[in-house]
Amino acid sequence: MAELVRRETRGRVGVITVDNPPVNALPLAVRTAIRDQLRLAVADPGVDAVVICAAGRTFMAGADIREFNARPVDPVIGDVAGEIEAAPKPVVAAIHGTALGGGYEIALGCHYRIATPTAKIGLPEVNLGLIPGAGGTQRLPHLIGVKAAIAMASSGRHIPAPEALAMGAIDEIATGDLRDAAIAAAERLAAGKAIRRTMDIPIDAAALPADFFDAERATIRKRYRGFAAQPAVVDAVEAAVKLPRAAGIAREREISWDLKTSVQSKALRHLFFGEREVGHIPGIGRETPLRPVASVGVVGAGTMGAGIAVNFLNAGFPVTLIDTKPEALARARDTIAKIYARDVAKGRLAPDTEQARCARLTTSLDMESLAAADLVIEAAFEDMGVKQEIFRALDAVCKPGAILASNTSTLDLDRIAAATNRPADVIGTHFFSPAHIMKLLEVVRGAKTATDAIATLMNIAKRIDKIAVLSGVCFGFIGNRMFEGYIRESQRLLLEGCTPTQVDQALVDWGMAMGPCAVVDLAGVDVSYLTREANRAHMPADPSYCLIGDRLYEQGRLGQKAGKGFYRYGPDGAVRDPEVEALIRDEAKRLGIAPRDIGNDEIVARCILPLISEGAQILSDGIALRSVDIDVVWCAGYGFPRYRGGPMLCGDTLGLTQVVDDMGKYARQLGNDFGYWTPAPLLRELAAAGKGFKDWTRP
Ligand code: COA
Repeated sequence: MAELVRRETRGRVGVITVDNPPVNALPLAVRTAIRDQLRLAVADPGVDAVVICAAGRTFMAGADIREFNARPVDPVIGDVAGEIEAAPKPVVAAIHGTALGGGYEIALGCHYRIATPTAKIGLPEVNLGLIPGAGGTQRLPHLIGVKAAIAMASSGRHIPAPEALAMGAIDEIATGDLRDAAIAAAERLAAGKAIRRTMDIPIDAAALPADFFDAERATIRKRYRGFAAQPAVVDAVEAAVKLPRAAGIAREREISWDLKTSVQSKALRHLFFGEREVGHIPGIGRETPLRPVASVGVVGAGTMGAGIAVNFLNAGFPVTLIDTKPEALARARDTIAKIYARDVAKGRLAPDTEQARCARLTTSLDMESLAAADLVIEAAFEDMGVKQEIFRALDAVCKPGAILASNTSTLDLDRIAAATNRPADVIGTHFFSPAHIMKLLEVVRGAKTATDAIATLMNIAKRIDKIAVLSGVCFGFIGNRMFEGYIRESQRLLLEGCTPTQVDQALVDWGMAMGPCAVVDLAGVDVSYLTREANRAHMPADPSYCLIGDRLYEQGRLGQKAGKGFYRYGPDGAVRDPEVEALIRDEAKRLGIAPRDIGNDEIVARCILPLISEGAQILSDGIALRSVDIDVVWCAGYGFPRYRGGPMLCGDTLGLTQVVDDMGKYARQLGNDFGYWTPAPLLRELAAAGKGFKDWTRP
């Protein structure tokens, strides 16, 4: 095995290189070796200064997250950073790729930071439910000021080198070879005999208002609703300002440890690894060939089609957008131009980049224009007949080997594929609305979809900055199939005495990005109604089933786009509508459902328990590969609180026995004529065996 950390001497500079692929994480062996090599360099009379750099694609990307479940073993990264800072010879960090978390904290311990022009630095620990725990919150305020330190560590943002230089988070950008430049800097520092230790730079806290930290905490709590780590960053920086050095470091470690053992951090780590694991598909590996994709066609120029096109234009693909109506194409061009204009106005996009992206878009009324496309995504009306007709046409015009994808959100992909003579080339790509923003992409594998088509789509997803999760074919795939029970209960709660505001607020307070009634209004009351219509044959004969949604549809209350749905929409956004509340009361009376007071706990349990049980059934049915795939779908596509890790992890956190017991309680309380409260067999089995979803692997 190659050495994890090696040292050589260049002139009178000791160069310590960390080489722990793929991302130079910092497990015990690596941090011990850095410390040992530093000690040897310091003791070497032939060495006047030291450079710390990394081999491979990146500088150290942080602590080894896999070690987080155990108590840290000395030397922890903070010890190493402290020893570097105290070194009697100047130490320079040479940064390429990303210096993240513990990696950047090591750089903060160094006396000088030099980076390549494309490097990025950051303290992304909050994304794992943590704060920087290796002196980051203590050193950074000395270097860049208190406010900037809080902003950097609470956002977890990766900061590009030029910006990092401007704010003082690095000291120099290397124009030529990084190592040479770092060695030159080390020689300069050694010659100047002045060591600038980060902790010795005075913090300018005198100008801060008396209530500064309380105000920061309040702002951050509001911005990161429900998350524990972000406000804890303020606590740690406050300690850096108000406590003696050693006490500040101790306080930071204490906060960091408390967070590390919290449910939130475990949930966020589960998602970190989950978002990478979803890309691992049994039977598909590096050896699976990818089909070349250089050009993309999109059929259907509605909101979804335009949003899908934007993803590909952003990633540099030429896109041909097809529709049967010229006015639809004109509208789509307009929609796309507006998306880009907003980005330019906000400074997120340079005007010449915008022009280049728009120039890659072609619109056409003629399917023949797709003859040369490598990938075609159909984003037409959600109707089997319409989709089959389009796929027949694509089959006739597209070149052999082109991937034909459908953006269906519910329909049977195998029936769509059967309309062609090449079902192996047909795949599902379910984008989420707004398609250019939402991170999730469900890639749907039909019975005959070719392995290389799946591998290609999983790869393309990365290129368009999506998190792709593979789903099998069933009504609604992973996400929408589960959504059905969630929406059913949210609407049943209305009939039992809740208002839409009460249901939505309870779930938002619990952490959902939006409440279910507001979501239906946003997506379109008609869209969920038509989805139900398409599946009525399989639905329970329950007269209360999504009844309020059906009634709103009949009354033309189609949601936000109609100015009214579950809520009424005006200049001030959504407001409660007494008309809807009266409608709910009338319908409840008609069905003989007596209103009662329902607490937030019941609202949350009634909506979340069905998700867990349906998720279990989805696993048994082979629709999702792993429980974490379901969690990723819900967190990336449905606004499920990341700090709860997704519905399946929620089940594990609650304990599956508890889930089964709670479902039993609602079966007794509400009746179970339609089987809503019968736990999925897998859920029952795991609960009986004292296991969780995390223990489950596909038999
Ligand atoms: N500890 C352990 N494993 C890590 C890791 C870490 N800090 N960072 C990345 N990895 C692993 C990933 O799980 C992945 O493993 P896999 O190939 O088995 O799936 C592999 O390294 C490559 O990571 P990936 O994210 O796929 O590579 P990338 O080039 O897209 O991104 C980074 C690289 C460094 C930007 C990204 O991995 C990252 O953000 N890492 C976390 C950094 C962090 O939060 N550090 C602070 C920790 S407190």
